[in-house]
Amino acid sequence: MGARVDLVAGARPNFMKVAAVHRALSAASGALEIRIVHTGQHYDAEMNDVFFEQLGIPPPGVHLEVGSGPQGAQTAWILERYEAAILGARPRATVVFGDVNSTLASALAAVKLGVDVVHVEAGLRSFDRTMPEEINRLVTDALSSLLLVSEPSGVANLAREGIRGSSVRLVGNVMIDTLRREAEAAARLEVGRGMGLSEYGLVTLHRPANVDEPAVLERLIRLLVELSTVLPLVFPMHPRTRESVRRAGLEGLLFSGASTFKVVEPLPYRENLSLMSSARLVLTDSGGMQEETTVLGVPCITLRDTTERPITVERGTSRLVGNDVEKIRAAFRDALSGSWPRGETIPLWDGAAAPRVASAFLEWLEA
Ligand code: UD1
Repeated sequence: MGARVDLVAGARPNFMKVAAVHRALSAASGALEIRIVHTGQHYDAEMNDVFFEQLGIPPPGVHLEVGSGPQGAQTAWILERYEAAILGARPRATVVFGDVNSTLASALAAVKLGVDVVHVEAGLRSFDRTMPEEINRLVTDALSSLLLVSEPSGVANLAREGIRGSSVRLVGNVMIDTLRREAEAAARLEVGRGMGLSEYGLVTLHRPANVDEPAVLERLIRLLVELSTVLPLVFPMHPRTRESVRRAGLEGLLFSGASTFKVVEPLPYRENLSLMSSARLVLTDSGGMQEETTVLGVPCITLRDTTERPITVERGTSRLVGNDVEKIRAAFRDALSGSWPRGETIPLWDGAAAPRVASAFLEWLEA
């Protein structure tokens, strides 16, 4: 067949998905010429290189080196540079992942040059258009020729938008393939114990709604420091959040003497998985961690008002609490007292989603 295929990796949440799909596509067909395209949206070693190393993703065939910038500028830089990379290689298809700016920008560059777009994690909707990710999802799906969906709500959302038929395939969650593959290696690390903690909660925050407004950020950090006196909390801090803390002058609060409140650098994949697996609870605004905690059976207090991953609330372990202090406190108490759903087994989140992606992709290519 010899078809050229680009897989676009841009930001941290893409990497676990790219790893699984790259492996499955390579195993399914030796005839594909697969090129990893890194946009450079995330560039710090701990947001980036360490994931490529741990997850066995080959080095990018092309690196667009766009870095950070305002929404429009970052999107425009990817559009311009990926267009040039397409013209140089003429791929048959561009596979994009998730909902980050790199997903939208590379899909747009591809489709304008007549290159088919394949979207892994299609159809998810938060119905909140103030989130950049929601715009990225809507536009990417409208441009895609093959839409590979992780949970049933995605199929229903796409049908409502008039996207249905054989181009839409429910394949399951490729991120869980990576979780299952790495689980044993992660368990051996015992990161929590290495920090001297027998019991703890894990915190991550980076969404604009939680970290961009100084008053909200301060309220949340004060609450977390307070909760950490009940259950020690480990907080690997995203660079965006670190920057907001600095701008708001809140560094003092982070290190205000509560030794039970441990702020650390962003963690590599396995270290984070190790901490998450053994945590009593997770407090997060990450979409990926809502899914991972559901599979691990760990209570997930989700600091968002909406989720594009409703199955994690309806059948998993996630509860939406926004950034409302009283709701967070109540959820924290419930999780510690054990009055929390254990989560069901989610169909197709079984560690074999990426091979289903590969089969669907090859069928579509040959059709
Ligand atoms: C992006 C995604 C978000 C995803 C998140 C996971 C979009 C719109 N958002 O948000 O969906 O959940 O990644 O991490 O694509 N920065 C660094 N080093 C880096 C990367 C970022 O210092 O390697 C800092 C920069 O100050 C930058 C800020 O973080 O301005 C935001 O980075 P950006 O990639 O624009 O968005 P994220 O908030 O990371």
